[in-house]
Order: sequence, then C-alpha cells, then structure tokens
Amino acid sequence: MRLHEKVSVVTGGGSGIGRAICQRFSKEGSSVIVAEINEETGQETVDLINKDGGSAALVLLDVTDINSVNEMVSETCERFKTIDVLVNNAVAFVMGTVEDASEEDWIRVFKTNVIGYANCIKTVTPVFRKTGGGSIVNIASVSAFIAQPKFVPYNASKGAISQLTRCTALDLASDNIRVNAICPGSIETAGATQVNIDLGLDPVAANKALAEEALMKRMGKPEEIASVALFLASEDASFMTGTHIVVDGGATID
Ligand SMILES: NC(=O)c1ccc[n+]([C@@H]2O[C@H](COP(=O)([O-])OP(=O)(O)OC[C@H]3O[C@@H](n4cnc5c(N)ncnc54)[C@H](O)[C@@H]3O)[C@@H](O)[C@H]2O)c1
Repeated sequence: MRLHEKVSVVTGGGSGIGRAICQRFSKEGSSVIVAEINEETGQETVDLINKDGGSAALVLLDVTDINSVNEMVSETCERFKTIDVLVNNAVAFVMGTVEDASEEDWIRVFKTNVIGYANCIKTVTPVFRKTGGGSIVNIASVSAFIAQPKFVPYNASKGAISQLTRCTALDLASDNIRVNAICPGSIETAGATQVNIDLGLDPVAANKALAEEALMKRMGKPEEIASVALFLASEDASFMTGTHIVVDGGATID
C-alpha cells in the first residue's frame, strides 16, 4: 500500500494510461479522482475501481478551462478533504508538419498539453502547501526529445512539458512539492491507435512497426507506465524532483 490513505487526481483518467494509473493507485490505497472531459469513459473507470473495492469519484474537467480546474479542485477538497498527488495526463494529439498545422491546431495542443498541465499545477499547489507538500507526475513523452515525421505540434508541446516540469520543480521545492515527468514510448492505447488512423496508417501494421522500434520488440502496456507513476508519486521517490524517467522498451537509446 504505497499510497495508503492518499488522495490522487488523475486528469484524463477515462482511457489508456490515465485509466491504468487510476486503477493502480487505487490498488495501492489511494482514493482516486478521475478528472475527465468524457463523462462516459470517466464513469467507466470509476465503476471498475469501485467494483474492485476501491474508492473513486468522477469529476468532470476540461483542463483548458481554468474555471473548470478550480471547480474540480474545490469539489475534490469538499469530498475528500485534501489532495496529495496530481497526475497530469490529459492530452490533445495534434500531429502534422509545420505547414499543415493551423493556428487553431497550435492553440488546441498547447492549451491542453501545456497550459492544461500548468492550470492543474497552479490550482493544486495551494492545497499541497496547506498540508506540507505533495507530488506531481507529468506524463510527457519520448516525443519531448526526439524528432518524428509529421509530429511537430505534439512534439513541441511535449518538449514544453519537460521545461514545465524542471522549472516548477525548482520553484516548488521549498514547499516540499516534487514535480517529475515520465516519457513513455509507444504504448497500446485508444489514443495511440486513433493517431495512426488520423495519419492514414493501417493501425495493425503501424503497431507492428512501432513494436520493432523498441529493443524489447513490443509496444508497452498502460500498466507499465502506471507502475512508474506510482513510484514517482510515492515516498519511494522522496529524493527525486525535476527529473524524467524514460519508459520506452529501449526505443530511444541510440
Ligand atoms: N499512448 C502512447 O503511445 C503515448 C506515448 C507517449 C506519451 N503518451 C502520453 O500519455 C498520456 C495519455 O495518453 P493515452 O494514449 O492514454 O491517451 P488517450 O487518448 O487514450 O487518453 C487521454 C484521455 O484524456 C482525456 N482528455 C482529453 N482532453 C481533455 C481535457 N481537455 N480535459 C480533461 N481530459 C481530457 C480524454 O478524454 C482521454 O480519456 C498523454 O499525455 C500522452 O501524450 C502516450
């Protein structure tokens, strides 16, 4: 029970990596707030956890809207009294070349992946301060530090999450708030499949090619990101802040 009696907020907890994090945190003793824009999938995650004997609640959230983030934090504190862990995970997958991307595309990807993460950090920080600290896990990507064809807006936003992580770790360390990031490689999720479809690729062939890129010759599972998120969120990582853990089956070592 590495998160015994903790309260964790996971943005985008209705799908893929976010759902796996919600389920793993619950198994480790945390109450979980599934903070999701999609009511149906968010509720599914809550039902899975509660059926399994855990304690979860759905709070509808649009990370791009600071009022929605404020309401999510207020509602969470009313129901669960405090917040100990924030996982920033919600994403807009906006791909394309710099010539393809419209101004609206740039605004959407940065509003969700960068400003959305910052909105949540800004809003939970006063709650963390009141209780003497907290842990923030930002889900970045290997896309933060490698180039991929026709991935410009998404990769630029993930690079920005790296600097958001380092700079907020610096500013919040004196409040005993740790801020770390995970850089997943290719992970089997609904979101990743949709990206391949949007790029005009056959999803089965695309997944096979992605699997070949990893030394382990397979894609990762959402649960394999959840276990690293658990480590960073917990006291096991008590001397870690401002850092990144790459979880990609060795795909980016060379
Ligand atoms: N799947 C991969 O291969 C992969 C690789 C590297 C990094 N990542 C990162 O992992 C994270 C999760 O990715 P995934 O593949 O599980 O995605 P996913 O699309 O399966 O899930 C993302 C969730 O975020 C929610 N969401 C989207 N916009 C939101 C908003 N404005 N407010 C609140 N919730 C919102 C969606 O409804 C969805 O449930 C993302 O940050 C992504 O960049 C994924």
